[in-house]
Amino acid sequence: MSERAVGVFDSGVGGLTVLRALRHCLPDEDLVYLGDTARVPYGTKSAPTVRRYAVEAAHFLMEQRVKLIVVACNTASAVALEYLAERFPVPVVGVIEPGARRALEVSQQGRIGVIGTEGTVRSQAYEKAIRQGRADVSISAAACPLFVPLAEEGWADHEIARIAAQEYLAPLLSQGIDTLVLGCTHYPLLKKTLQKVAGSSVKLIDSAEETAKTVATLLQRDDLRRRQPSQEPPRFFVTDIPDRFEKVGGAFLGDTLDRVTTISLD
Ligand code: DGL
Repeated sequence: MSERAVGVFDSGVGGLTVLRALRHCLPDEDLVYLGDTARVPYGTKSAPTVRRYAVEAAHFLMEQRVKLIVVACNTASAVALEYLAERFPVPVVGVIEPGARRALEVSQQGRIGVIGTEGTVRSQAYEKAIRQGRADVSISAAACPLFVPLAEEGWADHEIARIAAQEYLAPLLSQGIDTLVLGCTHYPLLKKTLQKVAGSSVKLIDSAEETAKTVATLLQRDDLRRRQPSQEPPRFFVTDIPDRFEKVGGAFLGDTLDRVTTISLD
């Protein structure tokens, strides 16, 4: 079991920011990544639809004989994590709880802002996770639907991204937030722009690193760490033609993407 791969999925390229952190934190592990590019975005879809997609993605990863599944998508983590954890015989790790935990560690005044997709914000999953850790915090949340296409377009540092960020963040900044959770795996690409707009006093939380640490802890706890370092580069699967994934994904992964295979989840 320990020699099996860690499986990771997202609706598209966003989860590659989590894969990047996993590679850094667990360099010996074999990694399999699925981007459901035929059905991206998940963020605008209903919870039952995202849950169905997530189950199909998890089934595919199980067929690849993974030992643990990382839901590297905030939207899917928000609405499908428990559902998956109850139905699959391997540990399932999401990105919300690690991000919420980190926000509580970092926030000094307990004034936390959360940005994410419409689905994530509607679910209030971050509010619940943060309040579980500490009840007396103030939380303001905003959906930022334009950030995903801007990141995908390679326009994270573009003037358009700055204007969008000013609009989206204004209500949160007027609440005096000291911490901003990037509650979408696409948003770490916009870090520079978001930091400029939010100001240097606001701490940005990217859950990728915390998620990788959670995975490392779980593998250790269940004695699932690889005995032999993997010699294999990560394997990538997508559900539509790979061209865009290969072109855009490099910026998310911080590396070139090869070995991308198109599959069907039907
Ligand atoms: N990666 C997704 C998330 O973290 C955003 C993209 C989408 O809407 O599918 O929520």
